[in-house]
Amino acid sequence: VIVLIGFMGSGKSTVGRTLAQRTGLPFADTDALIEAHEGMTVPEVFEEKGEPYFRELERKIVSEVLGGAEAVVALGGGAAGDPVVAAALEWANVVYLETSFQEVWRRVRASDRPLLKLRDPRALYEERTPTYRRLAGVTVTTDGRDPETVAAEIEALVLKGSGAPGARRIVVPLGEQTYDVLVGRDLLDGVGELFPGLPGAEKAFVVTHPSLRRYAQRVASSLETRGLAPHIFEIGEGETSKTLAQTGDLLEAMGEASAHRSDVVVGVGGGVVCDLAGFVASLYARGIPVVQVPTSLLAQVDAAIGGKTGINLSSGKNLAGTFHQPVLVVCDVSVLDTLPEEQVTNGLAEVAKYGLISDPELLDIVTTRADGILARDPALLEDVVARSAWIKAAIVAGDEKDRGRRHWLNYGHTFAHAIETSGGYGTIEHGRAVAIGMMAAAHVSNLLGWLDEGGVDIHRKVLASAGLPSTARLTLEELEPVWLRDKKYEEGVRFVLLSAIGSPVTGVQVERDVLARALERLAS
Ligand SMILES: NC(=O)c1ccc[n+]([C@@H]2O[C@H](COP(=O)([O-])OP(=O)(O)OC[C@H]3O[C@@H](n4cnc5c(N)ncnc54)[C@H](O)[C@@H]3O)[C@@H](O)[C@H]2O)c1
Repeated sequence: VIVLIGFMGSGKSTVGRTLAQRTGLPFADTDALIEAHEGMTVPEVFEEKGEPYFRELERKIVSEVLGGAEAVVALGGGAAGDPVVAAALEWANVVYLETSFQEVWRRVRASDRPLLKLRDPRALYEERTPTYRRLAGVTVTTDGRDPETVAAEIEALVLKGSGAPGARRIVVPLGEQTYDVLVGRDLLDGVGELFPGLPGAEKAFVVTHPSLRRYAQRVASSLETRGLAPHIFEIGEGETSKTLAQTGDLLEAMGEASAHRSDVVVGVGGGVVCDLAGFVASLYARGIPVVQVPTSLLAQVDAAIGGKTGINLSSGKNLAGTFHQPVLVVCDVSVLDTLPEEQVTNGLAEVAKYGLISDPELLDIVTTRADGILARDPALLEDVVARSAWIKAAIVAGDEKDRGRRHWLNYGHTFAHAIETSGGYGTIEHGRAVAIGMMAAAHVSNLLGWLDEGGVDIHRKVLASAGLPSTARLTLEELEPVWLRDKKYEEGVRFVLLSAIGSPVTGVQVERDVLARALERLAS
């Protein structure tokens, strides 16, 4: 069953009908079924019998439809919030039709949708969006697109193969550049089989570190069975490998090995390897495919997904780079067994960030079960990586080139960047700097009257549970020079803040005295 979810006005019925025609499947609209059952319209059911009655009936009808034959189903906008419905959706192909608030508001403001009379539409939209994202296996954006195009994209995504057995598949829907993120256990030996069709590919250039050789070799062997000749390139550990010189060496080595534009680069490593492998792949022959096999938690939940590649210049970190989407990302959580604990903690800072900006359940998992994650409980790791990948995929899908919503991912990072730079790179772990940065942002939000004390405390708890700091002694005098030097902040430093847990606001300029007071609170 293909289930379309999304806010009212996102086009579920129209797209659903079109998709049903394309696939030859029957179409069911749960709101229409409720209307037929009651012999009155949805607004009338709300008015005459009340919302609890409506929800109960909706639950019954949805369960029947989901338990029935193959079909395309358009789900009422509020149904996904019901835990019984959400549990039933586990077994369906759930597609989120993501539409911006501006667009849905334009479409529905003149309608007689009952909830719009009872609730603030924007608050309702912000409340429901994280649920849709969490439940969806596939997210398709609908702003400015006609139903036929949206239906065609869904058909291509949902009817495509489903990857490795037992692995979770998250689709990053980017039109022709759409790719899968597969999350599971013991996937390394089968990476070759998971590869998408790469017409003409003969060689695979595997970039890794000497310390990760055994993982790279398993990947290389599986590529051989796929008919690709592997070449393994080992680079030094750490940020010092993300350089122009290293990029040049790799490009030259590929040239010497007669790499062709249809060949493929494979990154097997943490964020450093992923960034460099992606960068090299984007440059060689003006761009060849890259497959990412991230081996650190941070790379699995963040760096490997989304197509940002890059290297450091002496004037700054990640200053040169490209957008080059991978054709596949394989997150094998079994390899995290050998990741040093402080690196797991590092990755947890980004996971906590996803929880804070978008997913209360993920936040709860990190807050209550960080011990299990640090002990590498595989089921927990799969869950945490898959949820994080979902969020990153959905955010990237709506803003590939980082012009809007992708800025959410910078939550805590404006402070973190200044903390890392003013202290000198390497003096503080990135994850710890992000943790302090998110805590500072929480204090700023609180001082602005946005986030209440409870919200600030949620930050403290999740960070403490992950073994991350939530206090630090910092002064504006240390941080400001970094912000002023950074070209990104040309028109003044801007922050991502939370108006509430799960509701990020980007581009916020903050008065100096508020920043100073936030730092005072951060110190205690
Ligand atoms: N492109 C993006 O969107 C993006 C996003 C976030 C971060 N990044 C970049 O990612 C980099 C940080 O990534 P990172 O934290 O993974 O650092 P990293 O790549 O340096 O890896 C950390 C350490 O862990 C080791 N390691 C990795 N996997 C291992 C495993 N399974 N077992 C044992 N050891 C293992 C590595 O060899 C390394 O020593 C930074 O350069 C950052 O700029 C990029």
